[in-house]
Amino acid sequence: MSHNTFGHLFRLTTWGESHGPAIGCVIDGCPAGIPITLQEIQNYLDKRRPGQSRFTTQRQEPDQVRILSGTFENENTGELVTTGHPISLIIDNVDQRSKDYSDIKSKYRPGHADWSYQKKYGIRDYRGGGRSSARETAMRVAAGAIARKVVPGIKIRGALVQIGNLEIDRANWDWNEVDQNPFFSPDKSSVQPWSDYLDGIRKSGSSIGAVIEVVADGVPAGLGAPVYGKLDQDIAAAMMSINAVKGVEIGAGFASAKLTGEENADEIRIDKNGNPEFLSNNAGGVLAGVSSGQPIVARFVVKPTSSILTPRKTIDEDGKETEIMTKGRHDPCVGIRAVPVGEAMMALAIADHYLRHRGQMGEK
Ligand SMILES: Cc1cc2nc3c(=O)[nH]c(=O)nc-3n(C[C@H](O)[C@H](O)[C@H](O)COP(=O)(O)O)c2cc1C
Repeated sequence: MSHNTFGHLFRLTTWGESHGPAIGCVIDGCPAGIPITLQEIQNYLDKRRPGQSRFTTQRQEPDQVRILSGTFENENTGELVTTGHPISLIIDNVDQRSKDYSDIKSKYRPGHADWSYQKKYGIRDYRGGGRSSARETAMRVAAGAIARKVVPGIKIRGALVQIGNLEIDRANWDWNEVDQNPFFSPDKSSVQPWSDYLDGIRKSGSSIGAVIEVVADGVPAGLGAPVYGKLDQDIAAAMMSINAVKGVEIGAGFASAKLTGEENADEIRIDKNGNPEFLSNNAGGVLAGVSSGQPIVARFVVKPTSSILTPRKTIDEDGKETEIMTKGRHDPCVGIRAVPVGEAMMALAIADHYLRHRGQMGEK
């Protein structure tokens, strides 16, 4: 029984806990001959790395990745190339403070994994939550850097589109803005209000939820396999597997409920180059579980961080009622660091489906 592997042909298995010596992953099924540099993988990890602004946890984890297997150095260019064999990546854990967690040793944090892990396994690693810690998502991001390279010409980008009640103005959407602010916001005008709002949340020891949007451009038509291997189904599962995610939508998503058939129809015309052109993308790039060639659009919502400084009612291991306030260094809004994680899960789902499609249909 294995529940630590994602994908069918492009398979990611992650291992490790936040307070163990290291975390790592094995990627099996990656085609041979894909050029990759350590720096490319590191660049994505740096986006997820904590402690980069006052709006994320102040833990200092450098997240330096090492490649242990599965690549070979091209003698002429010095570039690494995948060999077709398992790619193993490792990151040492360097910034753990187990004492931060002494209070939750015997108490269950409401909203966290403590209660359900204890019920399921009868044992739990209270220091940072063990496998429930979002530290594991670093390996998804590292693997995602490789997955992106499996599908020629695809571009996967994510952005934070809502914190609490504060939504971006979509008219201002600018992908170039995303890497210019600490929130990965595509709307410059959102940055100041979000900063003020999150400063208040952070200083009061509270936390808040958020919505992340991930867009994959350049995905070829034809990926996804009805009826239980639909592309949107697997993207939803991929996003839902991220810590703290409580909802996923594709394209117009839940807003479809308010649309009429006329409004929702993504009408088709022929553009000036003679190619079919969709006039809208309410479907989010997936029709009947198969990619249409339009951009794939997924959104997911993360709940507010459950480890907060405000005392909350709970019980302890002896069944006594008590209160808990979680000290330690936690993200006031996990949505910020979830952006590169969402991108990575999109890349993993699409790379897997690309190989599955090729397996069934050949190079068509
Ligand atoms: C990038 C990221 C960072 C997170 N950081 C924290 C954190 O600092 N403190 C915390 O209590 N939860 C954090 N979480 C959320 C927990 O990992 C998650 O709530 C917990 O595992 C329970 O799982 P569930 O929320 O999916 O039910 C983070 C989640 C993500 C995606």
